[in-house]
Amino acid sequence: MWGGRFAAGPSAIMREINASIPFDKALWREDIAGSRAHAAMLAAQGILSAEDAAAIDAGLAEIAAEYEADGVPEDWNLEDIHMTTESRLTALIGPAAGRLHTARSRNDQVATDFRLWVRAACERAEAGLAALQRALVTRAGEHAGSIMPGFTHLQTAQPVTLGHHLMAYYEMLRRDRSRFADARARMDECPLGSAALAGTGFPIDREATARALGFARPTANSLDSVSDRDFALDYLQAAAQCALHLSRLAEELILWASQPFGFIRLPDTLSTGSSIMPQKKNPDAAELVRGHAGRIVGALTSLMVTMKGLPLAYSKDMQDDKPPVFEAAGLLDLSLAAMAGMIAESGFRTERMRAAAEAGFATATDLADWLVREADIPFREAHHITGEAVKLAENRGVALDALPLEDLKAIDERIDERVFAALSVEASVAARASYGGTAPLRVGEQVEAARRALGMD
Ligand code: ARG
Repeated sequence: MWGGRFAAGPSAIMREINASIPFDKALWREDIAGSRAHAAMLAAQGILSAEDAAAIDAGLAEIAAEYEADGVPEDWNLEDIHMTTESRLTALIGPAAGRLHTARSRNDQVATDFRLWVRAACERAEAGLAALQRALVTRAGEHAGSIMPGFTHLQTAQPVTLGHHLMAYYEMLRRDRSRFADARARMDECPLGSAALAGTGFPIDREATARALGFARPTANSLDSVSDRDFALDYLQAAAQCALHLSRLAEELILWASQPFGFIRLPDTLSTGSSIMPQKKNPDAAELVRGHAGRIVGALTSLMVTMKGLPLAYSKDMQDDKPPVFEAAGLLDLSLAAMAGMIAESGFRTERMRAAAEAGFATATDLADWLVREADIPFREAHHITGEAVKLAENRGVALDALPLEDLKAIDERIDERVFAALSVEASVAARASYGGTAPLRVGEQVEAARRALGMD
């Protein structure tokens, strides 16, 4: 392909280090679409004869059918997907194939192919996130009033509802979706026609190729076009943030499925057994979602470090952009699907959750709030009085609302029998009806709003 200038061919090591076909063959659909759009534009502009354009288009269609049926052949001598396809086109239609590369370089070609691929990955992520959100919202609606302990420092803090907890993840995923949508909109510009780096002297029509490939517009600067991988980094940043959210949710499912918690039963279909311990049901899918997050963050780091020192315009380092993106996208798609299945299919053991909420003095804040409200005691003092009550209950091994009134009165005489109504976990969650709070009423409203936003009603 560039033999004219060289006296000797590349060594075996050169061929091996140079070859990207083992991974960039994943771009074959985008590559053929880009070439067909380019050839049609060249013909429309009178740069290519109608006859050659027709032969090229038919040849590319045939190659697409071959790749679809038999996969893409991997020949290191042909370096990459672009040369692999061009070489096959030459075999099929002869010298006219050599005219396809007029007013084009592999630099703008790969930038275009990869953008198309990453744009589709953004769309897949958005769809996967929407499916997981629907699962969360459905379960949150079922459990708007189911009480569980809320934690800070992983210590029982205050009772919350399971619906509220699940809707917290709905919110995280809503932000993730907007990051992918934002990345997709920003990358919606076509680099094709930037050629090697400087543009071309041929009278090409970049608006036409951009339109044909479904881009909003052509990119504005040819140097930037062939050297920019922001779009891939935007995708990986959104993916990394999303993976962190999935990993946190996975961690909660793993904890909740453990015997000491016993808050959920994971579906058999997304769990594994042990080859030695017959009683085991392991949360492997959740653990792998948690593990994959590390690899996705690693992919982001990998491409950031690849790009950080590169001068304009194209450098071969940039060929290393694809493996981390392909890997991260595969892991993210799978993680989203596995998580949607776990959320949709898990059994929530609400009686265990409720008992745990009652066991941890979770309504201590409600006692302090009651003293502020009913006895006009400053909150700091109420906090201290409540601390004494918790100490007493802990020493006796009973719940706060199981302390006899006379013992509470001995701690502070302003406490009266009305306090018991505030100390149940139901009263506690119902009281937290501030906007965004855990009260079943508020959670129900959030679920309704989310269902509308997701088009579920
Ligand atoms: N396989 C190359 C890549 O993925 C295509 C671009 C090659 N351009 C070049 N000037 N060698 O980056």
